[in-house]
Amino acid sequence: MLEAREALQSSSLRHAPRLRRLRRSTSMRRMVRETAFTADDFIYPLFLVEGTGLVQPISSMPGQAQRSVDILPQEIDELSSLGIPAVLLFGIPGHKDATGSGAWNPQGPVQRAIGAIKRRSPETVVIADVCLCEYTDHGHCGVLSPSGEVLNDDTLALLARSAVSFADAGADIVAPSAMMDRQVAAIRAGLDAAGHDEVAILAYAAKFASAFYGPFREAAQSAPRFGDRRAYQMDPANGREALREVALDVEEGADMLMVKPAGPYLDIVRQVRDRYELPLAAYQVSGEYAMLKAASQNGWLDEKRAAMESLTAIKRAGADLIITYYAKDAARWLEERE
Ligand code: PBG
Repeated sequence: MLEAREALQSSSLRHAPRLRRLRRSTSMRRMVRETAFTADDFIYPLFLVEGTGLVQPISSMPGQAQRSVDILPQEIDELSSLGIPAVLLFGIPGHKDATGSGAWNPQGPVQRAIGAIKRRSPETVVIADVCLCEYTDHGHCGVLSPSGEVLNDDTLALLARSAVSFADAGADIVAPSAMMDRQVAAIRAGLDAAGHDEVAILAYAAKFASAFYGPFREAAQSAPRFGDRRAYQMDPANGREALREVALDVEEGADMLMVKPAGPYLDIVRQVRDRYELPLAAYQVSGEYAMLKAASQNGWLDEKRAAMESLTAIKRAGADLIITYYAKDAARWLEERE
């Protein structure tokens, strides 16, 4: 022991920095902390169903529920009091069909929710997810050919129609997530033609065909009836292709970008941050949430520490905004400080 010390004293390393000096107390650690986030950075997803007085818990996402529009005001009040500025809306329609026509029904749950939220809290930023998978009876994100292929260009007009319907209802931002080629351009053109040049587009630019969406598909009742989404969502192995997807969405007129999922794709978040100036969101998806919840409920992880560490990592990788089911808990934890 003594010998090791003596060796260090006489070595060229004796004046080497000692990084532990700045880790000695809570306040010192706070002073040198490089990454911070606040409730301003959170977007909270909400699942909306037909009916009244409904709060239906989602079993694979403890703490999350499907809600009917009439009980939204209390949820919005809670989010406002926690300082969470934005919500991302998903609808589960009463009726599904081959083209997903519920997606542009002016009386659909999302359209009605947008109105209800804006009446309650005009300041709340309302983002509507634009995709057909919750609205089609086959569960795919676009319309099908007779042989069951998802048709790209036939789907574009329907996505645009849905986006215009959400804009008509008062959405501030629409978020296309269908991963059809040129969907951002089609939606931008549709919005502008309908007089909605003020509505912004948050593009799910790099969205991977991920196993981590499993619990969401229970929540949104949107699992495909056959096959999977690998013919339109991205291969998890591809980083360079993700940058091409992002480049195209920027060119097509996206106002904000998203990488999804977040945790397993932090390398993509960092590369997009370094290459583009647009605001960047990362989506901590249902499976990331479910893993943290399940392990915490088993006593295997400290939930607060593990969740806050995950959010810190997403922020450190370069995300400006985080879409997370943990938004409300994290806003409370932030108030408690370390
Ligand atoms: C719609 C959509 C999905 C998610 C967001 N928008 C599901 C999917 O692509 O299958 C997943 C979100 C989550 O897992 O939390 N296409």
